Amino acid sequence: MSKPEQFSVSRRDFLKTAGVGGLASAVTAAAAADVEAQAGPHVVGPGELPVTLTINGKRVDLRIEPRVTLLDAVRMRADLTGNKRVCDRGACGACTMIVDGRTVYSCSTLAIEVQGKQIRTVDGLASGDTLHPVQQAFCDKDALMCGFCTPGFVMATVALLEKHPNPTPEQARKGLDGNICRCGTFVRVMEAAMAAAGKVVARG
Ligand code: FES
Ligand code: FES
Repeated sequence: MSKPEQFSVSRRDFLKTAGVGGLASAVTAAAAADVEAQAGPHVVGPGELPVTLTINGKRVDLRIEPRVTLLDAVRMRADLTGNKRVCDRGACGACTMIVDGRTVYSCSTLAIEVQGKQIRTVDGLASGDTLHPVQQAFCDKDALMCGFCTPGFVMATVALLEKHPNPTPEQARKGLDGNICRCGTFVRVMEAAMAAAGKVVARG
């Protein structure tokens, strides 16, 4: 009976083989990275794709093209029409929303960019029939005329007071300087912001 063939690998052979295997893996990984780099960034669209937003604490599932702005997604697809489109080019602030605690011009922000973030619009401020302190202050101080700028000013004021519950006039001016009122109600807007001071819970 013939003896089964012995398969033996010396330590030197093993290390050589492992070295070649490791090198092969490294070469494969480098090649894959190279291919990925040549392919460029992952491209989506131009057709519709699923996009999930969290608006005023609620999950909203949409199918939209990647070019759709946050303002359009909220107004036209999620049917929350409180925030207004005025200039549609990041110049007036009427479309101001709060995303993860910071004000954004929603007309100049893509909806797909803010997936996974907390989006707040003026529609979500009141609790039932009770207005948010900032909304109430705008009413009390008569801080609006045509009202087109008002939702944006209200959201900017909310963000200001969540950061500085008792702002100095300078902090208030700075916090609201991204918003424009064509009707000229800025003095009353400032009065409303100061009247609501101390009534908004700080969020850092
Ligand atoms: S509508 Fe967005 S900044 Fe004017
Ligand atoms: S109230 Fe008319 S633009 Fe401000």
